[in-house]
Amino acid sequence: MKKLFLVANWKSNKTVNEAHSFMISFLNHDFITWMHSQNTDVNSSKQIVICPSFTLLAELDKLIKQNAPSFSLSLGAQNISPFDKGPYTGEESATQIAEFAKYVILGHSERRLNFGETDQQVEEKAAIARKYQLEPIVCVQGKETPVPPNVHIVAYEPLDAISTGRVGEPAKPERAEEVAHFFRHEKHIPYVLYGGSVDPSNVRQYTSLESINGVLIGGASLDPVSFSQIIQNA
Ligand code: PGA
Repeated sequence: MKKLFLVANWKSNKTVNEAHSFMISFLNHDFITWMHSQNTDVNSSKQIVICPSFTLLAELDKLIKQNAPSFSLSLGAQNISPFDKGPYTGEESATQIAEFAKYVILGHSERRLNFGETDQQVEEKAAIARKYQLEPIVCVQGKETPVPPNVHIVAYEPLDAISTGRVGEPAKPERAEEVAHFFRHEKHIPYVLYGGSVDPSNVRQYTSLESINGVLIGGASLDPVSFSQIIQNA
């Protein structure tokens, strides 16, 4: 069975109370019920990753350990410091994030556009992530985006497809397959995800593609019911 990563990118959304309510609803009403109805193969073939803000990681980690310790549900960060721990005011180091998270999203287009993040910085961050056993999920905007060495997961997110403050236009599945095929076979990346305006009704169009191993979901992952439907439909 094909391995699928279903990665929620919450961006700068949710307070601790809101994140708590999301997780209680997601675990109690939707996700756990569905997981219990599936066989173990499904549990292990779908890797669910929630990437919240740093401020929410500890609370979500506690809730997952208490309520869903045996499911393939883990946390990721949306960024890390390119430096190790030390005198870097305002930065969260990989060692701090690795206390709670297994993954980290790097090089998202919103970071490149709003914070001037460069390919060089993405490479530095990927290296420090690996040093602390964090698995980088590197966002690429097209075939031209370089991927740092030793990266196993790439998310193809065409700029037009991301619903940043407007309605995005999801990529045509044929285009997503073509780009994913390129990264799989020419860049030897084991897992390529698609991201941009994924929702419960279109997720299967992408997860059924031969070269795609999952999706990165922004807006539609903020609601527990819609995120749960995406997982179930994927
Ligand atoms: P979207 O965001 O699903 O809201 O389009 C995806 C992303 O930015 O990762």
